[in-house]
Amino acid sequence: MCGIVGHLGKFNALDAVLNGLEHLEYRGYDSAGIAYAVENQIFISKEKGRVSELKKIIKASSSTLAIGHTRWATHGEVNRVNAHPHSSQCERFVLVHNGIIENYQRLKQIYLENYIFKSQTDTEVIVNLIAFFSQDLSVEEAIRKTMSLLEGSYACLILDTQQADKIFFIKDKSPLLLGISSLGVSFASDITGLIGFAEEFMPLEDKTFGIATTDSLEIYDIIGLKKETKFKKISVKMEDIDKRAYDHFMLKEIHEQPMMIRKIIDHYFTKEEVRIPERLLHTIRQSDKINFVACGSSMYASYFAKYFFEKLCSIPSEVFCASELVYSTPFITKRPFFIFFSQSGETADCIAVMKKFKKQGYPILTITNTIESSMVRLSDYALELCAGKEIAVASTKAYTAMIVVSAILARAVHHAKTNLKNNLKAVSLAMERVLENKEVCMRIAKELVLDRDAFFIGRGIDYWTALEASLKLKEIAYIHTEAYSSGELKHGPIALITKGTPVIAIITQEGTNRVTRSNLTETASRGARTYVIASKSLAIPEDDVIIPNVAHYLSGIISAMVCQLIAYYAAVYRGNDVDKPKNLAKSVTVE
Ligand code: M6R
Repeated sequence: MCGIVGHLGKFNALDAVLNGLEHLEYRGYDSAGIAYAVENQIFISKEKGRVSELKKIIKASSSTLAIGHTRWATHGEVNRVNAHPHSSQCERFVLVHNGIIENYQRLKQIYLENYIFKSQTDTEVIVNLIAFFSQDLSVEEAIRKTMSLLEGSYACLILDTQQADKIFFIKDKSPLLLGISSLGVSFASDITGLIGFAEEFMPLEDKTFGIATTDSLEIYDIIGLKKETKFKKISVKMEDIDKRAYDHFMLKEIHEQPMMIRKIIDHYFTKEEVRIPERLLHTIRQSDKINFVACGSSMYASYFAKYFFEKLCSIPSEVFCASELVYSTPFITKRPFFIFFSQSGETADCIAVMKKFKKQGYPILTITNTIESSMVRLSDYALELCAGKEIAVASTKAYTAMIVVSAILARAVHHAKTNLKNNLKAVSLAMERVLENKEVCMRIAKELVLDRDAFFIGRGIDYWTALEASLKLKEIAYIHTEAYSSGELKHGPIALITKGTPVIAIITQEGTNRVTRSNLTETASRGARTYVIASKSLAIPEDDVIIPNVAHYLSGIISAMVCQLIAYYAAVYRGNDVDKPKNLAKSVTVE
């Protein structure tokens, strides 16, 4: 959450930073700000709202050095004062920060009692601590001393108005990448913030401190030892993060799914064999239980993974919500294996759990769309989702990719000669059919526009899809939805069904078709407006969306896509900002 960008060099740093901030807006979009140097003087502009608002108020046209921030508010309301950059009371130091300082109140009391704070943010404490310590120490020492006191997470870019040709940077737990090219040095919270201005990059490690000027770059570790720089080529291109002709990234990403499945097949299969490192497969085979850990949509995808591993590999499995697992101590078996699912690879709740179990020496695999991420660096093993950059806050293709990759992994663990590759090809074709017939999803979405509440129901696989469908409709259409196992309705929630309440049933499994239909009829008898999304072989003519048949264990991918389209169009018809829904951010980097 929050994105930071910095640039220093021959190129116009204002363009580099504003461009980078626009690419990082998915990390937060409550406010944006920039500090830039013109003839050795630092100027600050900040504004509530998007980067586009910020652009309107910047007076200068060029600068050789700039740092910028796009905010997802944690401490303090969304306004101009709480927007970054923040400056020290003496105005010597200016700073942008991504992360959370947990002990900021205490640090205020101990060191900064006589300081007047302008904002409600935790960040202002960092910049004032640097100013406070710099009264007796060099700037480098003052920053280090500040680092030693901070508890929580931070990636900060710092300017000193007395040496306006330098960017100081510090990092612990929050991500920070360093980029270089012949144009200069850049910084960003993730790779998309570097595109166009850096050719190579390196992720900075925790507890790093550094100083960049136009002709030098120094990076130090926690004990002050100089670190080697090791850069890699940036492979993400501008077109990967381009919306092309689509109205929204979400729509583009929904449409990319059939092709994505073919890419995943190419990545993981050589003819009929699955290409996954034997060491990883062996470790999973040795385990007595698989613990899946994730949040949000990634957690809902984990239910499918659990199903695959139990059904195919006979390994007991359990799904954990990361934010719960951080603070609980479940029973851990003798030989556990941990699999984390994360689109971003930066989810703070997952990282906290990972660190907890890493300390105990348990083997950890991360399945992610972002192979250059903190979670991958902390893991023993990593598998890529190959979904391509997902920009819309609502996850679509990464979610379905998780189901696909976990099916492939389970098959490899089991050594099974299943028909998975062909079944996946059929899924890809079926997804194309859904896209060709999306008018029916648009029709349902239109009918939902004025609703305040809705229900998704299903059983087993269809229930897990209902959970994801419900999350999608909530987060972008702002409709209050509940996902229920259809059998549970009569144990309470049916009391909420009144005349016209929409209830959407998902039916793709033969074994539960009849009961789910009965449960739906029970809601209709109480006035519900019912809809059915059903696989062709189970459908009746009155059903609303009839989806192509695919292997039963993969059918959730197709029904999920239908629900993605319904949520997308419902959000569009309600006039919502589909790609950047209110109060949310793409990477949830705070606990
Ligand atoms: O990056 P991750 O997959 O770890 O993110 C997990 C959740 O924050 C994410 O799935 C969230 O629920 C999405 N907004 C869902 O669309």
